[in-house]
Amino acid sequence: MITRVLITGANAGLGKETAKQLASNSEIEKIYLGCRNMEKALAAKLELEQLTGRSIFEVLIIDVSNQVSVIEAVQRLDCSVDALIMNAGGTGGKNFNKINSNGVTEIFAVNLLGHSLLAQELLKAGKLLKVAIYAGSEAARGVKEMGMKRPELPTSSEEEFASVCNGSFFKKTQDATVSYGSIKYMGALWMSAMARRYPHVKFITMSPGATTGTEGFNTLPLFKQYIMKSMMQVMLWFNKVHTVEIGAKRYLQGLYNNDLESGLFYASQKGLTGPLCDQSLLFPDLNSEQYQENAYNAIQRFL
Ligand SMILES: NC(=O)c1ccc[n+]([C@@H]2O[C@H](COP(=O)([O-])OP(=O)(O)OC[C@H]3O[C@@H](n4cnc5c(N)ncnc54)[C@H](OP(=O)(O)O)[C@@H]3O)[C@@H](O)[C@H]2O)c1
Repeated sequence: MITRVLITGANAGLGKETAKQLASNSEIEKIYLGCRNMEKALAAKLELEQLTGRSIFEVLIIDVSNQVSVIEAVQRLDCSVDALIMNAGGTGGKNFNKINSNGVTEIFAVNLLGHSLLAQELLKAGKLLKVAIYAGSEAARGVKEMGMKRPELPTSSEEEFASVCNGSFFKKTQDATVSYGSIKYMGALWMSAMARRYPHVKFITMSPGATTGTEGFNTLPLFKQYIMKSMMQVMLWFNKVHTVEIGAKRYLQGLYNNDLESGLFYASQKGLTGPLCDQSLLFPDLNSEQYQENAYNAIQRFL
C-alpha cells in the first residue's frame, strides 16, 4: 500500500495535479510537496487543501538543481516515503546551457542530475521504500510533430553521456529542445540501471505525454513560447495532445499498475498521447545494459 509520496516540482503543472489526484485516494496519508520556492509552495498547499478538503500536504523545500539543497531536503524529511515522483524539470530556463558548480548544464541538473542524487540519498537513508517514477518524455525518441529530431548518440559510450551532462555534446546550441530529448533518453537508461541495483524498489520512467495547461514552456524565449503554445493548442483541438488531468493520470498508473515492469520506460505508443507502451519495443537500444551502465556511470562522475 502506498501511503506517503514525495513529488518534486509540485507547485505547478503535472506535479500539482498529481498531488490533487493522489489526495482523492483515502489510503494516501501524506504528500510532500517538493518545491524550490516557499511562497509558491505555500500557495499550492493552500489551493490543494481547498480543492481536496484534506490536510495531508507538507512542503519540503528542495531545489533539484542544487546538490546541497537535495542533501538537506533528504535530511529534513522526517520519515520514509513509499513513492517518489521525480517530476521537476523542463527546458531549464533562460540559461539552460550555463554550466553550474557541479560541471553540468542547468537543463541537465534540473531534469536528471538532482533527481539521481535525490533517489540515491533517499535509498541510502532507507527513506524510499517502494516506487520511484521519473518524468520521461516522448522527446527521448524525437517528436516529428514539433520538429524535434530523435537524439542521435553515435556511440552511447560513458564519455558521450558525460558530454550530454556537461553540454559539450550540443556545442553552442541556443535551442533547449535539442538537449532536452537526449537528457530524457539518458534518464530512462539511468532508471533501468537503478532498477538492477535496487530490485526491492520499482523504477518506472513514465512520460506524462504532451500535456497542455502546464507552465512547461514559460521559460522559453518569447517567440519560441508563442510557437510551442500555439502548436499545443491546435494539437489539442485535433486530440494530438491531452490535458494536465490525463498527463498526471499516467504518473498514477506508474504507481498503481502492477503490470508495468521495473526498469522500463513507458510513453505513448504512437504520437504524443493515447495508449502507453514499453518504449524498448520501438527502440531496442533502451534495453542495452551496456548503454544503461554507461549513462549511470557518466552521471556518477558529477555527483
Ligand atoms: N508538459 C508536457 O507536455 C510534458 C511532456 C513530457 C514530459 N514532461 C515533463 O513533466 C515534468 C513536469 O512538466 P510540466 O509541464 O508540469 O512543467 P511546469 O508546469 O513548468 O512545472 C515544473 C515544476 O518543476 C519545478 N521546478 C523547476 N525547476 C526546479 C528546480 N530546480 N527544483 C525544484 N523544482 C523545480 C517548477 O517550479 P517553479 O514554479 O519554482 O519553477 C514547477 O513546479 C517535467 O519533467 C517535464 O520535462 C512534460
